[in-house]
Amino acid sequence: MAAALNALPGDAPIQFFDLKAQQASIRPALEQRWLTILDHGRYIGGPEVDECEQKLCEFTGAADAVAVGSGTQALVMPLIALGYGHGDAVFIPGFTYNATANAVLLAGATPVLVDIDPNTFNMDVEDLERKIQRVKGTRNLRARAVIPVDLYGLAADYKAIQEVADAHGLVIVGDGAQAFGAKQDGKWLGTLAEITATSFYPTKTLGGYGDGGAILVRDKEMGDLLRSIRWHGTGDNRKESIRVGINGRCDSIQCAVVAEKLGIFEGERQRRITAASIYNQRLEGKVEGQTASQADEHAYGLYTVRVPDRDAIRAKLQDAGVPTAIYYDTPIHQMPAFEQFAPARGLPECEKASREVLSLPMHPYLSEDQVHRVCDALLGALQR
Ligand SMILES: Cc1ncc(COP(=O)(O)O)c(C=O)c1O
Repeated sequence: MAAALNALPGDAPIQFFDLKAQQASIRPALEQRWLTILDHGRYIGGPEVDECEQKLCEFTGAADAVAVGSGTQALVMPLIALGYGHGDAVFIPGFTYNATANAVLLAGATPVLVDIDPNTFNMDVEDLERKIQRVKGTRNLRARAVIPVDLYGLAADYKAIQEVADAHGLVIVGDGAQAFGAKQDGKWLGTLAEITATSFYPTKTLGGYGDGGAILVRDKEMGDLLRSIRWHGTGDNRKESIRVGINGRCDSIQCAVVAEKLGIFEGERQRRITAASIYNQRLEGKVEGQTASQADEHAYGLYTVRVPDRDAIRAKLQDAGVPTAIYYDTPIHQMPAFEQFAPARGLPECEKASREVLSLPMHPYLSEDQVHRVCDALLGALQR
């Protein structure tokens, strides 16, 4: 049965995200956790880190989870662990948050940009194959890894990507920063690839109260290696570096918040699904959105549609009290820092998406009436 949304009237102010409502529901427990941390004083590496990692494994079924300082670190560190750097090609979609591209470059590797599927907004697997072939035809790059991004909370097509990766000897490092809580073929994100990165940025589906992230892995040895890299590449004594590493730690306070929020996560996930199903019903056939397959359960980190004349529609929605946001109005290859990696013919679907996408309010504390009000405002704006 669909989870019931809260009972706020439709004319109550609509938030794009609502961290305040969420905080109210867990505030006493968080205050207790602050006091515990103040008492034990282990602000770094406290028991909350182990608790958070254990709970992440229990929730997702991942063999190991390593809490780190941000989603960006969660992408850089596996590339360091795998030893990828100069001369190594890492395939990423051209329509994502800039962190995906930055992570590849910070590891010293070369991002190779792949177009997206216009229906899912995720990596186009045929274009991935083409781009791998192209890299294999050059002398200066080795095809090493692929980072599919689970945009807006919809898992990339991991089955198809795994086939391509296996055929070419590539490792998959999933960028699930926006998609904690997504499922594919009944399996949770975190187990869909060998290695999955996620972010605890506060507005993510599972967010902390500051920066944080986690790396979920299928192989415990990889987990141990990442723990060493997280603490400057040290061994058990945490003094001598036995390999190159960074400060990739997630502090006790963030781990406590995430551990606490995991307790309410499933209820929140269900309410996102309920809100999204109203959007889907009301908007079907009227605006194009993101198409999930039968195998997918979308995590609805964001609810995004395509609209014509986006600025005008946005302004009308704002007048109607409906906040919106754009993720993203510039594809990776058109950002100054990454222009040198632009494919000769561009990335047509990434470019089109960046002109058309508009994200609507999406969080677990929306009321049914508010979701209808967003739909009324959008459908009205499209008609005028
Ligand atoms: C797709 C994607 N990848 C990576 C990141 C980086 O996460 P963080 O901001 O925690 O470093 C984000 C965060 O916004 C993201 O949306």
